[in-house]
Amino acid sequence: MAISVLIADAKPASRQELQSQLERDRSIEVVSEASDGRQAIDQVRALRPSVVLLDSAIPGLDSISVIEQIDTLSPETAVIVLIEAADMDSMRRLMRAGARDCMARPPSQDELLSAIKAAHQSGAKQRDAALAGPTFESTKAQGDIIAVYSPQGGAGKSMLSANLAVAMSKIMGEGGTAPRIALVDLNLQFGDIDLMLNLSPQNTIAGLAQKGHGGIDAELLEQYLTLHTESGLRVLVAPSTPQYAESITVYTVEQVVETLRENYDIIIVDTPSQLQDTTLAVLDAAKMIILLTSLDLLALHKTRTALEMLRQLYAPEKIQVVLNRANSDVGISLADVENVLGVPMRAQIPSDGKVVVTSINEGKPFVLFNAQTVIARQIIKLAMELLGRESEASEEVAAKNGGFLKKLFK
Ligand SMILES: Nc1ncnc2c1ncn2[C@@H]1O[C@H](COP(=O)(O)OP(=O)(O)O)[C@@H](O)[C@H]1O
Ligand SMILES: [Mg+2]
Repeated sequence: MAISVLIADAKPASRQELQSQLERDRSIEVVSEASDGRQAIDQVRALRPSVVLLDSAIPGLDSISVIEQIDTLSPETAVIVLIEAADMDSMRRLMRAGARDCMARPPSQDELLSAIKAAHQSGAKQRDAALAGPTFESTKAQGDIIAVYSPQGGAGKSMLSANLAVAMSKIMGEGGTAPRIALVDLNLQFGDIDLMLNLSPQNTIAGLAQKGHGGIDAELLEQYLTLHTESGLRVLVAPSTPQYAESITVYTVEQVVETLRENYDIIIVDTPSQLQDTTLAVLDAAKMIILLTSLDLLALHKTRTALEMLRQLYAPEKIQVVLNRANSDVGISLADVENVLGVPMRAQIPSDGKVVVTSINEGKPFVLFNAQTVIARQIIKLAMELLGRESEASEEVAAKNGGFLKKLFK
């Protein structure tokens, strides 16, 4: 595929000049032109070019803001800035704003072509990394945290956390080794993971906070975890009534996740939609944040705001957006979602009321008890990918083996 390039320059003559320099290389395609900063941003949003050639004197919006906005909107797009005089100071400012490269005008054709190719390559690497995100190994001394978050209540956070954790635990326990996966219900007021997994916990995080106010160690923490026998998953359940929520401080939560990392490879945390300090503590500690969204305008709007905030705090590959109820026919498409959010979806989970509601009512996670359904398979696939077992997750392999689900969940 050709490297798509957007030329953003106010002067028609210099656009023409750049265009004709690029024309001679067939691996490069100029997909559009823009004559001011705002237009450039709109074009990037719509076309997601690999490379933007940006004139530093672009009118409408200063070049620094243009670069910054492109960086948030389409992180995989590389910006090359053309400047009148290449002084160190302005180059440094442009690069700090997120420009991939700066070149003095007029560039030679060779310079221009090799800069575009280099920028495209580094962008492609970033694109792959952003899509793949981190994976989680089982051989490290310290476990990793996956936070499942959404600013929208009812987005499916608990549904996904519970089923993902159970799937990971089951997959990890396949070889006969004890799985080291833990699930924390951080909905301190109205946690529901215990119901979803049909657990009757003796202990909750409220008791732990009380007992461990002087400090929490692995041994103490272990007594407060509840075993999900069907999968081997260990769960730290939320308080039984909302009034205990206040007694659980950000300090407790920090200690809980840090201590869990000593004995568990992966700790999945189901969070509430409110960004209180306890939620933020977990998002900080997480290696990966799964940001759940859905095909409705309100959810999308909130997701975009959340994404912008998270991107100011964390590396882009730490945040992976997952689309829930992906098959709903509601006038918004996957492409719309990716366009509005400016990131590709890490996974898509279909809507299936019958499977999900029955599963919750019976306390039987569908990845175990209804594993052949599409919704279960999507979550199992995500679990396998996160565990770095992509090849096994592919559908072809599954078909050849007579269905990997059978193999896995018998
Ligand atoms: N993909 C889905 N298909 C059908 N129902 C779903 C799906 N995801 C979530 N639900 C339903 O939506 C409700 C809210 O889900 P939940 O996981 O509790 O959201 P959250 O934890 O984000 O508030 C639940 O009743 C659940 O049954
Ligand atoms: Mg919930």
